[in-house]
Amino acid sequence: MSRKFYITTPIYYVNARPHIGHAYTTLACDTIARRQRLLGAETFFLTGTDEHGQKIERAAQAAGKTPQQYADEISAEFRQLWKRMGISNDDFIRTTEDRHKKRVQELFRKIRDNGFIYKGTYTGQYCVSDELYVDGAQPGDPCPTCGRITETVHEENYFFKLSAFQDKLLALYANPEFIRPEARRNEVISFVRSGLRDLSISRSTFSWGIPVPDDPKHVIYVWLDALANYITAIGYGSSHAGAQEAFKKFWPADVQMIGKEIVRFHCVYWPAFLMAAGLPMPKAIVAHGWLLFEESKMSKSRGNIVRTETILDVLGSDALRYFLLREVVFGQDGSFSFDALVQRYNSDLANGLGNLASRTLTMINRYFKGEIPYPSHAASKTVADDAIAEVARKTIREFGTLFDQFQFSRALEVAWALVAAVDKYIVENEPWALGEKQDEDSRSRLATVLYTAAEALRIATALAHPVMPDATAKIWSQIGLGDIKKLALSELAWGQLRLGTKLGEIQPVFPRADKSAIERMQKMEEEQRTTPVADAAVTAATPPAANALQSATVSPSAVPAANDKISIDDFSKIELRVGMVKVAERVPKADKLLRLEIDIGTEVRQVLAGIAEAYSPETLVGRKVVIVANLAPRKLRGMESNGMIVAASLEGGKPVLAGFLEDVPVGARLK
Ligand code: ME8
Ligand code: MG
Repeated sequence: MSRKFYITTPIYYVNARPHIGHAYTTLACDTIARRQRLLGAETFFLTGTDEHGQKIERAAQAAGKTPQQYADEISAEFRQLWKRMGISNDDFIRTTEDRHKKRVQELFRKIRDNGFIYKGTYTGQYCVSDELYVDGAQPGDPCPTCGRITETVHEENYFFKLSAFQDKLLALYANPEFIRPEARRNEVISFVRSGLRDLSISRSTFSWGIPVPDDPKHVIYVWLDALANYITAIGYGSSHAGAQEAFKKFWPADVQMIGKEIVRFHCVYWPAFLMAAGLPMPKAIVAHGWLLFEESKMSKSRGNIVRTETILDVLGSDALRYFLLREVVFGQDGSFSFDALVQRYNSDLANGLGNLASRTLTMINRYFKGEIPYPSHAASKTVADDAIAEVARKTIREFGTLFDQFQFSRALEVAWALVAAVDKYIVENEPWALGEKQDEDSRSRLATVLYTAAEALRIATALAHPVMPDATAKIWSQIGLGDIKKLALSELAWGQLRLGTKLGEIQPVFPRADKSAIERMQKMEEEQRTTPVADAAVTAATPPAANALQSATVSPSAVPAANDKISIDDFSKIELRVGMVKVAERVPKADKLLRLEIDIGTEVRQVLAGIAEAYSPETLVGRKVVIVANLAPRKLRGMESNGMIVAASLEGGKPVLAGFLEDVPVGARLK
């Protein structure tokens, strides 16, 4: 029976279009999965999209779409992109699929039946961006992870007895393989040692989620829903025999790859949920660092993303795959730049592997009619040939060890040291000079040199295949070896290239990139940033134009007729500022009215707003809003209102507050 191997990526939130930060996680897993398949393991590689929760619900609302429409669109973009990048996932799970929803409810039931769920009331701070309960924070405090202001949640919830698992978790972390790298493991251990509080695992103030079984007023906490994907996708909780078989076969996972910012969810909550359900632990949770661009984590909210498509269009998928794994030291943060990408591409791919392939195969074509020659007699051998064979043997061993320890950049460094050694060998042995001579010794020496070069090329190509599936498949068939997918990597050894193998048609695989490639990519990205895209922030406008809401009794200021334009000077008379709600409360006997205290940086203003039917006061405290700061004060219900907050007005007059995707300082002026 063959060994099984189950590997997962996190599932991606559908509030952001995919960028190369996301691509990084997925392709690290893809190369591992591909290597495992070549090593003969029955491999299952899972990825997917995380589609529920308040963050997605709000993003959809801002885009004027239903959450399902919104999730459908962005989830499809991830799938298309993975296809273009040659990602070899065996399944793609979406948390809005029926199979997932039913099985998550099964998991919830199981944990409840085992006595680890109870009902209580949660009052505290919540970060919607990270979908994280922030213990010990006060209203107005920032999220410790992303720095955005937390929101106050006060609701009846189901709680998970996380506190019951402290000792069991610490015992689990005693195994040094469970959390990698070491630095992350230490962080988790000290977090758990400092004490665990029970965790709220349901929400009742919005509805975009999986209903709690037998209590559909509540939806299951999005992280419990999302983490469960790793088992629901392979059949947990299904009543079908086939699905149960698959679950038995593949669970526990061999590798669960994540980014470092979601370590707590995967190393604390996830194993505790599994323990509570009586399920086995994954074998390893492996955390990578961040891809930085312009000095900070590449992310939609910072607006510093690089789209994968741009690189695919200009240099192709293998170039991106190689670059990310070669350039970033796995586990640490790494900077992306177009300069570095093109430089690596040229030095390692165009001039490195690509040039080795084309010069070696071209000479075999020319001097041996396109058939692999064989070192014919011992007299034609030198120590230099043996040295290359020795480097190649060592490369096979070391590459495997490093790769299996997730040290991709070092593994590739070792493989490219073989390429460099062969380049040097070719230069020193001058096969082109030998090719000019007709005597038997020269012919024999030429055969040895070109065989040695071709065999080293074959080995470097085989090792690099999981990282660059397309280009290596081409080189493989140019050497005349057929379909690289049939390669048995575990048997790879020096000397397997057979005499007389007929070369395929030779074509360059990595054409050199010039400076204009950098400019082209930069330009494509700049255009993308300045052209309005159909994205949440930009398409938020719901008819008519956004208006300012002061109170239910004040009608929106007249919207000028379409051709009745105002000048920029007119517009600049309106002082729009970012404010933060400090206090929010209902106004007695006024159903629609809230009294707000809003910090606008220079002072705290009292504003009366007619939004009580759409927003409960608790959800507003800590939230950033846009306020018209220079409006003449007016009295409503005997109280002074000093400014207006800006909102879009939906059909039926329902207000939706204007907000920001990026973190903005309180008091910032809008213009
Ligand atoms: O966290 N550099 O989803 P997500 C490196 N839905 N990796 C990056 C990155 C960057 N600049 N930006 C994002 C979620 N990633 C949850 C997961 S799993 C049950 C639920 C990586 O879309 C990030 O580290 O915010 C993470 O591994 C993955 O993309 C998904 O991030
Ligand atoms: Mg994230």
